[in-house]
Amino acid sequence: MEPTVDTAVETGAHQDPQAGTPVGAKAVADGGGGGGGGGAGRVAVVLGGASGIGRATAEVLAAHGYQVVVADRDGTLAAEVASGLGKPHESATADVTDEASVAGLFDGVHDRLGRLDAVVNSAGIGSLGLIADQSLEEFRAVVDVSLTGGFLVAKHAGRHLGRGGVLVSLSSLNARQPGVGLAAYCSAKAGLSMLTQVAALEFAERGIRVNAIAPGLVTTPLTAPAATIPGITEDYLANTPLGRAGTPEEIAQAALYLCSDAAAWITGEVLDINGGAHMLRYPNMLTHLARAFGDS
Ligand SMILES: NC(=O)c1ccc[n+]([C@@H]2O[C@H](COP(=O)([O-])OP(=O)(O)OC[C@H]3O[C@@H](n4cnc5c(N)ncnc54)[C@H](O)[C@@H]3O)[C@@H](O)[C@H]2O)c1
Repeated sequence: MEPTVDTAVETGAHQDPQAGTPVGAKAVADGGGGGGGGGAGRVAVVLGGASGIGRATAEVLAAHGYQVVVADRDGTLAAEVASGLGKPHESATADVTDEASVAGLFDGVHDRLGRLDAVVNSAGIGSLGLIADQSLEEFRAVVDVSLTGGFLVAKHAGRHLGRGGVLVSLSSLNARQPGVGLAAYCSAKAGLSMLTQVAALEFAERGIRVNAIAPGLVTTPLTAPAATIPGITEDYLANTPLGRAGTPEEIAQAALYLCSDAAAWITGEVLDINGGAHMLRYPNMLTHLARAFGDS
């Protein structure tokens, strides 16, 4: 899939090349380098930016001065999100499982906007099925988006991120906490967490930081279907010390922090944000499914 870019919105507002003022100096100049975000003059790409956590991240980065490219497999929804952000933000259609699409996205952003400072990869899909029953096709689809997609984004964003650049990926509580019926998702996210650390090692000498956020249950279109099955949410929250699900905005604030100069000494980190759920146990989703729908 070739990436398509919605250039209907103006893109020329922040075209100073990366060779100019050091990023940190620019952030201090706009008053945000100390943790307030510091995005003025910086370009951010948010993959999976059309929905849920990605959408909230695009909104938070834009609110803190970043020029945001909202990229998603669903280009129509991405364009709606970008248009809600207004100028100079823009959208692109891109599929993280397709190397030409990912390469074209980052080449295009760099060519047109002259720089790339931050990338947040929130693209992800879920699946639920016992190993004995799951098709190879479904297993591969989940691994393809979360793990292979993470590799392709690191590879091609890494070619354009300059010194001070940042990559943040969305891993999951399931990278460290196994769940029945979640072999594909858990394996893919565990791989993504390890990929994050390898990329952090490889990119460090170029001054690029690579981190991941591992959320627990966050209310988004991804989790809405499972939440309708009686017992799942209750069981999950009973194993969450803070007793509630997270919001997309809470994850977006962490992404903002990791992108900022306040996090300048953080790399190779997988940040758990889950109300403390990593200290307890993951619910058995299939028990609830069996109760709701029977064993068939
Ligand atoms: N919501 C949660 O509880 C939760 C918990 C832990 C981790 N996560 C992870 O956070 C990320 C965001 O999840 P969300 O809840 O916001 O989901 P979401 O479904 O609301 O958003 C995911 C976005 O990714 C896009 N996408 C899917 N496949 C893509 C592809 N191949 N290329 C480009 N874009 C693609 C979708 O179109 C969608 O816009 C995912 O990686 C997910 O696994 C979510």
